[in-house]
Amino acid sequence: MSAAVDITIRRPDDWHVHLRDGDILKAVLPYTAAQFGRAVVMPNLKPPVTTIAQAASYRSRIQAAIPAGLRFEPLMTCYLTDATDPAEIARGFSEQVWVAAKLYPAGATTNSHFGVTDISRIYPVLETMQRIGMPLLVHGEVTDREVDIFDREQVFIDLILSRLLRDFPELKVVLEHITTAQAVDFVSQASGRLAATITPHHLMINRSSIFEGGVRPHLYCLPVAKREHHRLALRLAATSGAPRFFLGTDTAPHLAHTKEAACGCAGIFNAPTAMQSYAQVFHEEGALDRLEAFASLNGPRFYGLPANADRLRLRLQPKSSETLPDLAVGDDRIAVFASEMATSWQIETLAV
Ligand code: NCD
Ligand code: ZN
Ligand code: ZN
Repeated sequence: MSAAVDITIRRPDDWHVHLRDGDILKAVLPYTAAQFGRAVVMPNLKPPVTTIAQAASYRSRIQAAIPAGLRFEPLMTCYLTDATDPAEIARGFSEQVWVAAKLYPAGATTNSHFGVTDISRIYPVLETMQRIGMPLLVHGEVTDREVDIFDREQVFIDLILSRLLRDFPELKVVLEHITTAQAVDFVSQASGRLAATITPHHLMINRSSIFEGGVRPHLYCLPVAKREHHRLALRLAATSGAPRFFLGTDTAPHLAHTKEAACGCAGIFNAPTAMQSYAQVFHEEGALDRLEAFASLNGPRFYGLPANADRLRLRLQPKSSETLPDLAVGDDRIAVFASEMATSWQIETLAV
């Protein structure tokens, strides 16, 4: 009989989440707060979180929704627009309202239409961020409709990211939710001030999965999943233990009626099964000894924060046919990614 798989790691953090607001916030937050000590909260609300006042008030709404008995700290971000004021950025950072700013190329993804239309418009903001050591988080896809959707990440790296890193040699940058072997190579070869987050779904599905037996709207997200060889490159990067790759689920809940539609929105809700999915991937790759680096150590080091003091224990469980039902929200529901993973690992937080 093989030995039981049972590992304990520092409590992980999620460096990329969408918590939304109102009823959806209340429904989804308990899942993220149950597994992760902290999470970087994306600012693409309607309207977007562009000011210190909006971020502080959003943070209070999140704190009010944390279930009793759970320890969880939301780390806020600022949504960059063409009109962002460098002074507001610097003040929000020094007052510890936000930890980073998010670059959405206008039109690239969900709620990005107020985003940046041309990177040169935010050069004064980037100067300031470089000076104060505030990370820039990037949705790395070009928005040009002429560029094939499967090439938009690579073209972004070639045309925009390379230039940005050249013009701001000290700026800390996170290329969020990477999906391609080119992104893995680019980040691996760059200096240590460039890092990348990797989602569970991009480690588990490829572009064929989205069309398996029919179109599967709940597997549609941006950047869209790529060919199998890209998925394999992402698995190697995540499980390598290299400090520049860390955990960011990009959990992105949408009500089912908005995804199961003629023009369905992009985003995968994976919070309830996030650590189970990552643990399964690391287990399959024979790399469980490197899960802690990816999930709990590399992110804090990049952001200049201490690792969490509490711990998470993960135990592989016998296969079960149980899956997690969709999450009910009002009259609607939110489908859970890899719901069959819910019972695959038993997860328990160990207090300090
Ligand atoms: C995200 C969302 O729904 O807010 N969607 C997604 O497909 N990833 C936005 C984003 O992270 O690009
Ligand atoms: Zn994005
Ligand atoms: Zn996202």
